[in-house]
Amino acid sequence: MATATKPRRKAEATRSFQTRMLIDGQWRDSQSGKTFATINPATEEVITEVAEGDAADIDLAVQAARKAFESGPWPKTDARDRGRLLNKLADLIESRIDELAELETLDNGKPISESRHGDLPLVIDCLRYYAGWADKIHGQTIPVRGRYFCYTRREPVGVVGQIIPWNFPMLMVAWKWGPALAAGCTIVMKPAEQTPLSCLRMGELALEAGFPPGVINLVPGYGETAGDALVKHPGVDKIAFTGSTEVGRLIMRNAADTFKRVTLELGGKSPNIVFADADLDSAVNGAMLGLFLNQGQCCCAGSRLLVEEKAYDTMVERLAAASEKRKLGDPFDTTTEQGPQVDKTQFDKVLGYIESGKQQGARCVTGGERFGSKGYFIKPTVFADVKDEMKIATEEIFGPVMQVLRFRDADEVVKRANTTDYGLAAAVWTRDIKKAHSIAQRIRAGTVWINCYDVFDAAAPFGGYKASGIGRELGETALDNYTELKTVTVALE
Ligand code: NAI
Ligand code: MG
Repeated sequence: MATATKPRRKAEATRSFQTRMLIDGQWRDSQSGKTFATINPATEEVITEVAEGDAADIDLAVQAARKAFESGPWPKTDARDRGRLLNKLADLIESRIDELAELETLDNGKPISESRHGDLPLVIDCLRYYAGWADKIHGQTIPVRGRYFCYTRREPVGVVGQIIPWNFPMLMVAWKWGPALAAGCTIVMKPAEQTPLSCLRMGELALEAGFPPGVINLVPGYGETAGDALVKHPGVDKIAFTGSTEVGRLIMRNAADTFKRVTLELGGKSPNIVFADADLDSAVNGAMLGLFLNQGQCCCAGSRLLVEEKAYDTMVERLAAASEKRKLGDPFDTTTEQGPQVDKTQFDKVLGYIESGKQQGARCVTGGERFGSKGYFIKPTVFADVKDEMKIATEEIFGPVMQVLRFRDADEVVKRANTTDYGLAAAVWTRDIKKAHSIAQRIRAGTVWINCYDVFDAAAPFGGYKASGIGRELGETALDNYTELKTVTVALE
């Protein structure tokens, strides 16, 4: 493993940041005048101060979004022109892809190779995918009894409040804006307090693309203040949230008073099942990607790696070797594979789980401690001999910590894989096509990958069963989250 070096922080050197909030097409300070610091997790240094929104700013933003939804140019904009605006935004992002990737790496700590070649291309693709849907959202004509003509319309749900996390800051913006704007909604978004910068930069590009004032409003701030006010505001018709299961539950409760539509994309403890008849080279690569991608900060991380007995020792050995080869350090170095955790809270949380794994008797095969002395880096960690009831096998760690469990046969592994409150994702590795599909059917999770992991596409729905959430993002199905269905019946005689 390489030593941590000081990131070059290119983005900081080449441009100044947008640090104010976007309300009704204007960049403004918070009404309280308060700001908060956003930190570079690789150096623990403050990047800049950002306007700290609270209930008063949320109220202004919701008023602007309401006005833009009800009057002004947006409701009169043809669906096809909404699509053109989304395409224009995608083009602007593409023309600044290097700058945006650097900004994301600076604020979040993820390796530049991932921001530049992973996150950003997915952002652009997602916006273009939904640009294509804008003029294809239509109702049906329905044959009813009697002399009536009956048809349905799909109308935008209204003002949507969108609350996003810090693990894929810009990609979460795209997943949320794409279907909302294609459907004709207006938006009040609260980015995560750890990573507000790329969202604000996307706001600048959205104005440049020509989205009318009030269609997209951005209020950075904390969850307990700004986020909470957005969830409770009577002027908001729908909340879309990605984040912790704990906050998801609170949001659902708080949204009940005003009957907001709610979609939630929450945590996971996804089983990654490797049979001994699998191509083990691919399974090792898939297990590494499935867990260590993005410093392990993925809701769908394959954090319960269940390996068939016969292949168990070989897999553990190979995973440990692969983990030791991972290159940690300066996220701006193009060869870096793993950067820091996003902040001190996450860093401490993950180290706490590592301690608990050791205390509960799991075998720490590699890693198990921080890396370097500055920045929130944690060594890739592999635990073997993990038992189902250990904390590290049941709770979401959200860090570079892999749990390897042993199983004997298919029925047993399905049962254990499903013994969890979560149900976001799963994977199966085998050369036996019947076994693969049969297990895919029996796993209670929103996504199942067969002989692959973390394959995402804007067209493929994503979301969770059980405590992993409500509703699906991406694909055609996400448009349902942003539309109301209206039935119109006309008497013909
Ligand atoms: P969080 O759920 O507190 O934060 C996510 C977003 O929700 C942020 O924008 C935050 O400001 C907002 N928020 C927080 N409290 C709120 C409230 N009362 N009302 C409205 N909005 C609120 O997650 P946090 O604290 O950043 O991370 C805690 C754990 O959550 C992580 O360790 C991880 O296990 C999980 N997580 C899951 C994510 C996913 O992709 N499903 C993403 C981020 C975290
Ligand atoms: Mg929190």
